[in-house]
Amino acid sequence: MMSKNNRVFHSLAIALTISASLGISSLSHAATTVIKADALVDVNNSKVLDSPLVIIENNVIQYVGTQGSKAVPNDATVLDLSGHTLLPGLMDMHVHLTSDSNVHGYRRLKISTPRSAITGVKNARSTLMAGFTTVRNVGAPGYADVALRDAINDGDVLGPRMYVSGPSIGVTGGHCDNNLLPFEYEAKSEGVADGPWAVRTKVRQNIKYGADVIKFCATGGVLSKGTKVGAQQFSFEEMQALITEAHLRGLTVAAHAHGTDGIKNAIRAGVDSVEHASFLDEEAIALAKEMGTYLSMDIYVTEYILGEGEKAGILEESLAKERTVGKRQRTSFTTAYEAGVKMIFGSDAGVYPHGDNARQLTRMVRFGMSPMEAIQAATMHPANLLGKSALLGSIDEGKMADIIAVKGDVMNDLSLLENIQVVIKDGVVVKHDR
Ligand code: ARG
Repeated sequence: MMSKNNRVFHSLAIALTISASLGISSLSHAATTVIKADALVDVNNSKVLDSPLVIIENNVIQYVGTQGSKAVPNDATVLDLSGHTLLPGLMDMHVHLTSDSNVHGYRRLKISTPRSAITGVKNARSTLMAGFTTVRNVGAPGYADVALRDAINDGDVLGPRMYVSGPSIGVTGGHCDNNLLPFEYEAKSEGVADGPWAVRTKVRQNIKYGADVIKFCATGGVLSKGTKVGAQQFSFEEMQALITEAHLRGLTVAAHAHGTDGIKNAIRAGVDSVEHASFLDEEAIALAKEMGTYLSMDIYVTEYILGEGEKAGILEESLAKERTVGKRQRTSFTTAYEAGVKMIFGSDAGVYPHGDNARQLTRMVRFGMSPMEAIQAATMHPANLLGKSALLGSIDEGKMADIIAVKGDVMNDLSLLENIQVVIKDGVVVKHDR
């Protein structure tokens, strides 16, 4: 935890860097900022507060109430957001910032790790400008995600708070391997490991080089060549070894899993979140409830894959897989939601353009959630999954000042969140469109 003085420095340093090098005006040079708006989405109490007043000191929210309930400090910078609704900064638990949505299939072979890191710089910025102040990056080659996270934290580039996994761990020839080339090219992804001790070593290596979270592939996938979405990858024994090792070291684990058996075994082995979770059945849902497992279901991305995927280089075999997976996943989403499984917002942005993350919110409503529940899935629930609910996920006293503002009646139309006017991260106004 940073000391208070460090926080001041941190916030001001970022503000100055941003205004100097990125041409963004910052209102946060003063230590105290007061925000007034028309409404505030209080995700913890599932209600909307009218005429809110929020007082921020440096990068921490000090007071939340209604206008007139507290005197505005004399030296405060006042940010008048009349006509706007305030929400906590959005959180996306499944992104690949170092991936470009135009580069799929064989095009990926041309991209070096350093090049992907530079792609990440661009995407980090567009993600933050879209109102996503926190992301979990689940899978990146060469620890490019670690470098990006550190560059953002150092104030060198603009982006969301990142929790990163490093390379995804997976079996030889699985979804987390590179299967595009014949044998003689010896192409193999960094996270490939077979056997319980080998996967433990990969977990240890990812921790050594800076991972905050562990990602592994428990089944085949849509976008990988030659894998069956329905088939499990890793034995139960390997999953248990991997998850035990990660938990031992204090990290959570995310499992890519479409197929039913892989989903169930990952849950039984104690995984913290299941990504995609397409082919759920009653037992999988019961297990997720029993174990308190989060489901991170990317139900928008199917529209991009089937609409734009071919142009972006996605293989025909992947398009064919998507035609079945997408539909089934949406049905599973509704069933899981109705059963009361814990669900978080995870988009798989990187497969589709970064910055379009929020498009999934309206789909989450279309397939069952109330607007408030969809917002909670993209704010307070991810904060819980990350173990950061004391600092992130809502506009409450003592939390980091990660706040977005949007014009219009957002609770009746979540598509308004696809176009955010104001983004404040860590007490710094990084975007203010008038
Ligand atoms: N990265 C995932 C995979 O290749 C994308 C799945 C997208 N499809 C979906 N319906 N969610 O498996």
